[in-house]
Amino acid sequence: MTANRPIGVFDSGVGGLTVLKALRDRMPSEALLYLGDTARLPYGTKSARAVNAYALEAARALVDAGIKALVVADNTSSAHALDSLRNVFPGLPVVGVVEPGAAAAAHASATGRIVVIATESTVQAETYPPAIRATRPDATVIQQACPLFVALAEEGMVDGPIAEQVARHYLAPLFADRPPAERGDCLLLGCTHFPVFAPLLRRLLGPEVAIVDSATTTARAVESLLDALALAAPRRDAPAPLRYLATDSPDRFAQVSKVFVSWRIAAAEVERMDLASAAFSGNIEPVPLPSVG
Ligand code: DGL
Repeated sequence: MTANRPIGVFDSGVGGLTVLKALRDRMPSEALLYLGDTARLPYGTKSARAVNAYALEAARALVDAGIKALVVADNTSSAHALDSLRNVFPGLPVVGVVEPGAAAAAHASATGRIVVIATESTVQAETYPPAIRATRPDATVIQQACPLFVALAEEGMVDGPIAEQVARHYLAPLFADRPPAERGDCLLLGCTHFPVFAPLLRRLLGPEVAIVDSATTTARAVESLLDALALAAPRRDAPAPLRYLATDSPDRFAQVSKVFVSWRIAAAEVERMDLASAAFSGNIEPVPLPSVG
């Protein structure tokens, strides 16, 4: 039965586990198949063309594994590749993180001045400003690329003097150095790696700036879509299976995952998958699905 199939969750690496967690919290009965393209991370410095190609390969692998819907947890792929994904996989429900995050920010801002921090490639895609204005036509959107946050998060350096200095470097020109009337009142974390900096950013920006990430709103959007399509998994007592695929070392995936989720992921639970060669040869091995009831 299609509803029993897993939801595929794709990210350039491990940061998308923040979205996986939100999906799990909201829909514990849904089996989840997570693919982190760790071999090719970061996507955030890559061109639109490369990101499109990578996202299509990842989606192909997940479709071949039997997913019923795809969540593009990676902001950079959501910014560049959603249209391509929907064109190439017309029957597949696809949810990205840009629209849910943009809507959450549009609602959280009182003044309509919204700062989006993201990867370079996401900023260049110019996807967030129109997505925010779709809900809030009067919004003033300022985008700032914060590439160093990705490396800091992967090192687990989410607080302390170095993270603080980097945060000040990126954000002081947009907040502290501006007159109060010109500052944003909402900071949208437009990258999977940035929610882990929320406590630091809260300390630096103070209580008057709303800090929004897309994980919770994306989970809500996925739930509504599955309900609308009658694809929601039947309720079950025990949590549904969670599977992890990575295109590079399971050890590194398990190590870095500690920064992003509170539960322990052992390297032995992470299956290595050679995405590029599988996709280029046109011969992706179907991934056996977990039993989901
Ligand atoms: N997952 C990416 C994003 O959300 C951040 C890491 C990367 O650059 O690949 O944009």
